[in-house]
Amino acid sequence: MTYQFILTEVSEKILTITIDRPDKLNALNRDLLQEIKQAVLNAQTDNAVAGIILTGSGNKAFAAGADIAEFASYTVEEGTALSGAGHLVMNEIENSIKPVIAAVNGFALGGGCELAMACHIRIASTNAKFGQPEVKLGLIPGYGGTQRLTRYIGKAQALEFLLTAENISAEKAYALGLVNNVVPQEDLIAQCRGLLEKVITKSPLTVAQILKLSNDFDHGNGFEQEIKEFGICFGTNDFKEGTDAFLNKRAATFTGS
Ligand code: COA
Repeated sequence: MTYQFILTEVSEKILTITIDRPDKLNALNRDLLQEIKQAVLNAQTDNAVAGIILTGSGNKAFAAGADIAEFASYTVEEGTALSGAGHLVMNEIENSIKPVIAAVNGFALGGGCELAMACHIRIASTNAKFGQPEVKLGLIPGYGGTQRLTRYIGKAQALEFLLTAENISAEKAYALGLVNNVVPQEDLIAQCRGLLEKVITKSPLTVAQILKLSNDFDHGNGFEQEIKEFGICFGTNDFKEGTDAFLNKRAATFTGS
């Protein structure tokens, strides 16, 4: 299958999905996310695939977030639909019966950080940076970030992350437990392959059982609530100001309206 925004390659039972928009720091537009979803879905029934690596092309970004240019003029309804569709992509990855490792090779911001968090394991290169900068855009995370981040690093650390919008280093992400390991960029894919090779020699049935059980926690209605609140942002002046400021490379001034 050929895709427009991702590259796929299977080698020795490992599917590598590479997000391929390096000129836009691999920003996640809607079609791109659907392609990732489709590739992961296809892998579920493909006997040639036992594990998956998700990474970004180039050496600067895993993914610098959802595509701000694409959604800047969305309405509340379109914003809500964007979030809902994004959640389905993240859920497809999280519910994969084959292990998915995020090889985080640079910026993992906003939707990029959420995409990495939907994967089962994250390995970062030393230059990786993590962040949820949505509040700078008059927006909140919309692909599960308000829920998964808290699960991984606890409420207090997650709130600092979400409310300050500051990026953190790979080392700090490791200290917080957000990533499993930090390795030099040139070793990143080999490290991910090495880890996956240890997993895919085990019974696929038990691997699938453990992955499933690791997801059997209670999200309450947090995901649904996040989709609703994300959509509400699209009706505010602060969202218009925040996205316009980013696209015109200036600082935003928020009014709380
Ligand atoms: N959506 C759309 N385009 C994006 C993007 C995003 N999330 N992130 C980066 N880009 C684009 C830039 O607009 C720029 O395009 P241009 O060359 O046509 O102007 C290109 O990618 C390179 O980015 P640039 O900002 O010039 O790189 P930088 O090294 O100066 O800064 C970042 C890197 C990651 C700090 C900066 O791009 C950034 O803050 N991105 C947005 C992060 C964000 O808010 N993500 C959450 C979105 S919900």
